[in-house]
Formats: sequence, C-alpha cells, structure tokens
Amino acid sequence: MINAYSKIKIAYYSGTGGTEMASKQFQKDLESKGCICTIEQITEGMNRNQEEHDLLLLLFPVHAFNAPNAVYKWIDALEAVEKACAAVISVSGGGDICPNTACRVSSIKRLTQKGYRVIYDKMIVMPSNWIILPPNPLPYLLIQALPKMVRKITDDLLSDVRKKTHPLWIDRIFSLIGRLETLGGHYWGKQIKVTEHCTRCGWCAEHCPSGNIIMLDGRPTFGRKCHFCLNCIYSCPSKALQPGIFRFIVIQEGYCLQHIAEQLPKNTQIPVKDLKVGLLWLGVKKYLMSVGDDWEG
Ligand SMILES: Cc1cc2nc3c(=O)[nH]c(=O)nc-3n(C[C@H](O)[C@H](O)[C@H](O)COP(=O)(O)O)c2cc1C
Repeated sequence: MINAYSKIKIAYYSGTGGTEMASKQFQKDLESKGCICTIEQITEGMNRNQEEHDLLLLLFPVHAFNAPNAVYKWIDALEAVEKACAAVISVSGGGDICPNTACRVSSIKRLTQKGYRVIYDKMIVMPSNWIILPPNPLPYLLIQALPKMVRKITDDLLSDVRKKTHPLWIDRIFSLIGRLETLGGHYWGKQIKVTEHCTRCGWCAEHCPSGNIIMLDGRPTFGRKCHFCLNCIYSCPSKALQPGIFRFIVIQEGYCLQHIAEQLPKNTQIPVKDLKVGLLWLGVKKYLMSVGDDWEG
C-alpha cells in the first residue's frame, strides 16, 4: 500500500525528555515505513528551516492543560503553507481526561490559520514530571507502551485515517486559564536558587530550552523567560538548583526518564486492567488499556 505521506517534518518541544523520546520514536517508525523525515527541536530564538513536507507532526508536553508558549511562538513564526496537512500530538502525565482534553485546541487553531489542514490529534502519556510520579509500575509501563502507541498512530497517519478529538467545554475553560502558567513560569524561573553544590559547569545554561539561564561570573543567573519545563532542576549534574517558590511542583525524588527506563521490570506480564491506581491516575490506566493489555519485559 502506498503511504498517504512521504515527506514528514517532526517538530517538538520538550523539557525533561518525554516528548523528545516520543518524537524520536516517531522518526524511527516513520523512516522504517519508507518516509523521509526531518526533525526539529523547538527552542527559543532557534534558526528555522522550512523544509518541504506534506505532513507536519507537532509534539509538545501538556503544561497547565495547554501547550507551552514556545510552541505558539514557533507556530506564529511559520511561513504560511498551501497544501500541507498536520497532526498534533500532546504528551501529558495524566492522560486524555478532564481537565486535559482541550490542550491541543489552540495549537490546532493556529496551525489552521497558517494554512495547515489538521487531520489528526491525539494524546500520548509519559511519566508525569511535575508534583508526583505515578505509582509503580505505571512509569515503566508508559515507557514500554510508547513504541506500540507510536506504531498505532503512524499506521493511522500513513493509511490516511483521520481522527479529531472533541474536547469538553469545561476543559476549554481550564485550558484558557492554564495560559496564565506562562506568566507564572517567568516569575517562578527567576526565583530558582543556586546552592553551594554548584560546580559552575554551565550545563543548565547550555541546555535551557528558553535561553533563560546565562553564566555571569561563572554562576548561573536566571532571567524572566523560563518555560517552567523543570529540566534544569532535575538534570543539574550536581543537583545544585532548587525552586525558590512553589516547591511542590518539583518531584522530591527527582525525575530521570533514563533511570525509569532502566528499571523496566524484566520477564513480567502485568494485566493493566487489574491495577489499582487511584482516581488521579485513571487517565493513565485508560491510556495503557487503549494501547493493549500484554506487557512483556
Ligand atoms: C509546569 C508543568 C505543567 C504541567 N501540566 C500538566 C497538565 O496540566 N496535565 C498533565 O497531564 N500533565 C502536566 N504536566 C506533566 C507533563 O505534561 C508531562 O510530564 C510530559 O511528559 C513532560 O514532557 P517533557 O518531558 O517533554 O517535558 C506538567 C508539567 C509541568 C512541568
């Protein structure tokens, strides 16, 4: 069968690596099915190449029931297109349930204004990077489910299956309120504390997707452009950065997807439908059940 799309541009924003992991999985899967893919990470002030493509695949993490502002800036700076289609994939910690369901609405609207025909949108779930980690074994199961979910989506896209979700009205309101997170993030980032453990290695400044951290006299200094991605705090090699306010947003035990992936249980089969997960993680269970019920380590 001939693929519905041959030249695919993948553009993603990622803070702590979950969306990046999903985007690279899409690239691998699409290339194995004969597509030509380009991949671009959305960061502040990046150089943009508008490669020729017949499908744009946009991925971003859900931030406060919405998309990070950097994604909107990126879409707004795109050149208008005439014939291309687009698919929008959000990556959340909680799943496609209230209050998350409207998180893709604004990005779909802006892409449409640029001339894209948005033919598909979907939520992927990765281990949550804010407030608390989901209880075990959900984080491992989510990482294990990723290739399977990506395969389902690429099968849909390449065979021209079109899927548009219908967000709840209440979630549209949550999503609008969530836009305030952008301002909150700017303020929160300015308050990050550098402790005595800082070795002045510059890792944080080099990897900040908003370019909010600069090294001044060898010390990291924070501006007012923080995207609230939490990457600097979790990934600092000497764990020298701490939130100055709203400490509860940061997971106390830290967050490292690599570490979670390495702890995937081996030789186990876990029937997801039997897991007791609590109300907070029902969206995660629903997602895992939609991917399939057989888990082999
Ligand atoms: C500031 C902030 C807000 C978030 N808001 C939500 C949310 O509203 N709903 C949700 O399900 N997950 C939320 N998350 C969790 C992320 O969407 C999730 O962990 C995602 O996988 C992170 O992707 P990344 O690793 O590419 O940054 C939030 C994370 C952060 C840091």
